[in-house]
Amino acid sequence: MKPAVRIAITGAAGNIGYAAAFRISSGEMLGKDQPVILQLIEIEPALEALKGVEMELLDCAFPLLEEIITTADLSVGFKDVDYALLIGSKPRTKGMERSDLLNDNGKIFGPQGRAINDHASRDVKVLVIGNPANTNALIAMSNAPDLSSAQFTSMMRLDHNRALNQLALKTDTPVSDITRLTVWGNHSLTQYPDINHCSIGGESATSLVDMSWYRESFLSKVQKRGAEIINARGASSAASAASAAIDHMRAWVFGTPDDDWTSMGIASTGDYGISEELMFSFPVRCKNGDYEVVRGLDMNDFSQEMIQKTEKELLEEREAVIHLL
Ligand code: NAD
Ligand code: LMR
Repeated sequence: MKPAVRIAITGAAGNIGYAAAFRISSGEMLGKDQPVILQLIEIEPALEALKGVEMELLDCAFPLLEEIITTADLSVGFKDVDYALLIGSKPRTKGMERSDLLNDNGKIFGPQGRAINDHASRDVKVLVIGNPANTNALIAMSNAPDLSSAQFTSMMRLDHNRALNQLALKTDTPVSDITRLTVWGNHSLTQYPDINHCSIGGESATSLVDMSWYRESFLSKVQKRGAEIINARGASSAASAASAAIDHMRAWVFGTPDDDWTSMGIASTGDYGISEELMFSFPVRCKNGDYEVVRGLDMNDFSQEMIQKTEKELLEEREAVIHLL
């Protein structure tokens, strides 16, 4: 058996944490041969509920689950962790935008970034899920000066998966036949789901779908899917968010297929003219535990306009939390 790896999950008693912890413990994130130690982090008032989650995890008798640590102390929760899923934060409710959460949620991620900086494994891989995810990830990253900014990412995989599903439904194709889709920018209404380089069953997506459907229906369907779920469920997406978090980490660790890529919020290094001060979603290829932006894609005028719009929104979010960076 391999030695166990340590995985921190913040907000582990919440809806996404609850959906993620069991799948991670059964090996769906890191493989059926990888033992795990879960380090579940909550705020003090939720520690009792977290005890319940711990009891249920134990009652599953997962062969891969070596140990569970529950705590409200960040120095304990992030100690030596190899992976950190930063979920714990408020979800939005009907009528709110994700950026409306910045005031309440932004301040959570500075102390967590510092604690990761001080206590986690030097190779830790961090995924920020709590909204607004890109800017929260920027805050966490900025507070971890001893780690590489490439170790901090934000979740765009749910948007990527949503876009895959909409295309699959429209073209009556299995999602597994769709490759090279990208969702650029912010996890918000300005995100840009881009099918210009996408292939469906070996054919170019733009030749298979009507571009007026793409611009007038598909884009807003994907951009507004979070709100559509809140309206239907009365609560924000949870199981699909946990599933996307698992997909994101799996891709980062095990790689993306040679003929495909994924969408990840990463610290911009200036690709496609995007400001280096942002956590921005790009098309990325993952290999050997690292990732690299897919460079050289042709961007038409519409795509340029769309990525500049989402960049502008992220710059505004950054400005609003500049005191936390
Ligand atoms: P939830 O309210 O069900 O659970 C949140 C949990 O976080 C609670 O148990 C709470 O006690 C805990 N928490 C709050 N502050 C904390 C802190 N400082 N440290 C540790 N734990 C803390 O919410 P949820 O449905 O699990 O959603 C969590 C976050 O994920 C929200 O911000 C939501 O908007 C976001 N989200 C992001 C995506 C994405 O694609 N990026 C998708 C879905 C949801
Ligand atoms: C989502 O996209 O489902 C999440 O970001 C939750 C939300 O607020 O929409």
